[in-house]
Amino acid sequence: MLKEVIATRYITPLREGGSLPGLVEADDHGTYVMKFTGAGQGRKTLVAEVVCGELARRLGFRMPRLVTIDLDPVLGLGEPDQQVQELLRSSGGINLGMDFLSGALGFDPLAFAVSPEEAGRIVWFDALVNNVDRSWRNPNLLMWRGEVWLIDHGATMIWHHNWLAAEGSAARPYDASDHALKPFTPDVTRAAAELAPLVTEQLLAEVTAEIPDAWLAGEPGFDTPDALRQAYARPLLARAAVVHDRIEGAK
Ligand SMILES: Nc1ncnc2c1ncn2[C@@H]1O[C@H](COP(=O)(O)OP(=O)(O)OP(=O)(O)O)[C@@H](O)[C@H]1O
Ligand SMILES: [Mg+2]
Repeated sequence: MLKEVIATRYITPLREGGSLPGLVEADDHGTYVMKFTGAGQGRKTLVAEVVCGELARRLGFRMPRLVTIDLDPVLGLGEPDQQVQELLRSSGGINLGMDFLSGALGFDPLAFAVSPEEAGRIVWFDALVNNVDRSWRNPNLLMWRGEVWLIDHGATMIWHHNWLAAEGSAARPYDASDHALKPFTPDVTRAAAELAPLVTEQLLAEVTAEIPDAWLAGEPGFDTPDALRQAYARPLLARAAVVHDRIEGAK
């Protein structure tokens, strides 16, 4: 289970983020990048962050630790910024937090080099989860202590917006032509050989078990949170075996 902390202080918004993530201090004295259930896309974005973030970590990628952050909306009362105040007011309960990598720099393909192996692993992973948010315009990769870290998996698994079409959607190709790591000649074949066998039913059960029940309850068509967890696991399992053949534009 993800560690649970309680927000004690809203520090500042991270203005670059489209969903208005904020920097927050918690009762364990940790500083977290917090993503709010009350933000535009709502809790599905947070589910995607957990599924992809925890899967990435288990596949060996560097990925900041995730926690859940309990928020009392009164924390927003003193906020001078109206938008932030509304966000906090509408996000009472369990939200997502991520360890803040202090001093991290945004990845710049012109300033940093990545090996074909590592580029291949990241492109393959993005294809698996259908990440549309790792382009050169918005890489959602951080450089921290000389290494690449993955962040921001909110815009992935498009199929979870329409479960009836999930199976078909999960079979679709992945367009890597805008990917931030395309210039590094990603070795996707090697990555697939290494990573695909690791994406097992058991691993996906472990990953989806990390999703808080509160973000799964009440999804139309699913009686229990566990039924929905399985629906997240199935397309990923199917896709892992075939997706390297469906990556387009990586060369
Ligand atoms: N764990 C972290 N440590 C340090 N900085 C971070 C971390 N997570 C996010 N950031 C910073 O905050 C910015 C916004 O975060 P993120 O990309 O996750 O939010 P978002 O709202 O989903 O963004 P967008 O949709 O604009 O890509 C990042 O580009 C990065 O500069
Ligand atoms: Mg981002």
